[in-house]
Amino acid sequence: MDQATAPAPTGFHLWDPEEDDILVCRAVREETHDVKTFVFAPRTRRRFVFDPGQFLTFEFEIDGETIYRCYTISASPTRPDTCSITVKRVPNGPVSNWLHDHFKPGMTLKATGPMGEFSWARHVSASGKYLLISGGSGVTPMMSMTRAAYDLAEIRDTVFLHAARTPADIVFEDELAMMSRRNRSIRVAHVCESDAPGRSWPGLRGRLSAGMLEAVAPDFREREVFVCGPSPFMNAVRAMLQGAGFDMARYHEESFNFEELSPGEKAEVETAAEEMAPAARTFRIEFAKTKRVVECPEDMPILEAAKRAGLRLPSSCTKGLCGTCKSKKVSGEVEMTHQGGIRQREIDAGQILICCAKPRSDVVIER
Ligand SMILES: Cc1cc2nc3c(=O)[nH]c(=O)nc-3n(C[C@H](O)[C@H](O)[C@H](O)COP(=O)(O)OP(=O)(O)OC[C@H]3O[C@@H](n4cnc5c(N)ncnc54)[C@H](O)[C@@H]3O)c2cc1C
Ligand code: FES
Repeated sequence: MDQATAPAPTGFHLWDPEEDDILVCRAVREETHDVKTFVFAPRTRRRFVFDPGQFLTFEFEIDGETIYRCYTISASPTRPDTCSITVKRVPNGPVSNWLHDHFKPGMTLKATGPMGEFSWARHVSASGKYLLISGGSGVTPMMSMTRAAYDLAEIRDTVFLHAARTPADIVFEDELAMMSRRNRSIRVAHVCESDAPGRSWPGLRGRLSAGMLEAVAPDFREREVFVCGPSPFMNAVRAMLQGAGFDMARYHEESFNFEELSPGEKAEVETAAEEMAPAARTFRIEFAKTKRVVECPEDMPILEAAKRAGLRLPSSCTKGLCGTCKSKKVSGEVEMTHQGGIRQREIDAGQILICCAKPRSDVVIER
């Protein structure tokens, strides 16, 4: 019996996006001035099964364009009848602003997942101690994990350190304080860069530093560490931990913004490209809507060749997992090695993930 057909213990069925990928918005909640939570339920009564920290990929139709975006489930799997995402407005971002301005209870979205490895269910700490470090909207996977620990009344030694711009930007402040008060194994600390209008910040102030980490979790070297936030924030935390002699085998990160590679990753991509360049045949990739053409070596994913030619295309994980780069192939052949970010019926309908599709002929893509 598979997941879709197996009845859940209470007699409910489990949500299976292969069967019905439509989710109905049940509620929209304002968290801060620029963060909202959207609560979803399947069309028929079904339960969600996921590890706290995993994400869903949503399909949006905005101004005649189909756009894919990933959102971490901020709710806990212990409350499986609904699931929620918590979205921060990104200046000029098409999807986050559309959600904030237009998405209302009763409206629907297509979603697939859950996906992702970023969960303490998948990286269990040998010492039983955890350190969750988030910046900005990176709070969501940490919230799901903390809510799950709280609901299950787990005694799981957790330090949750969240960095926000001002106290007005702290998401879930009251709920975190309540969970920490009632389950003493959850400790929460916030660090703010500055005061908010009308609210001064008496706590840790400035950018997250090694000194603050030592003060909040002096035993951080014994902890399994999870980090999520914008790329510059994660780069800084990674460097800080490396500098402090932390065992990076126990470091786990999730980026919400994969566009900016770290300098090390950039160097790796460039070296790999240089190494394969001389032998590789190249094919012509045409982007039909934008009327751009790029040359793509046979050993290079189409997305990578497009980026090198200066095209800005939607992408996140760049490894065939999240579905953000899904595009319609009008003609041509590709070889694609994905990791679950696309369904067989989508492949059959001519869709590809351009981050993990290498050309085997000239290709035309509907973008
Ligand atoms: C696995 C995964 C999980 C995610 N979970 C969440 C989540 O729980 N909550 C959430 O709000 N977002 C989350 N995101 C980001 C989300 O998918 C969108 O990228 C975001 O909502 C912006 O979409 P947009 O279309 O409005 O703007 P885009 O056109 O995607 O982005 C506009 C610009 O802003 C940058 N940017 C994108 N997201 C952010 C951000 N959060 N902070 C700062 N800069 C950003 C982009 O790199 C780009 O330069 C997640 C992304 C991934 C890959
Ligand atoms: S960018 Fe994630 S699947 Fe392509």
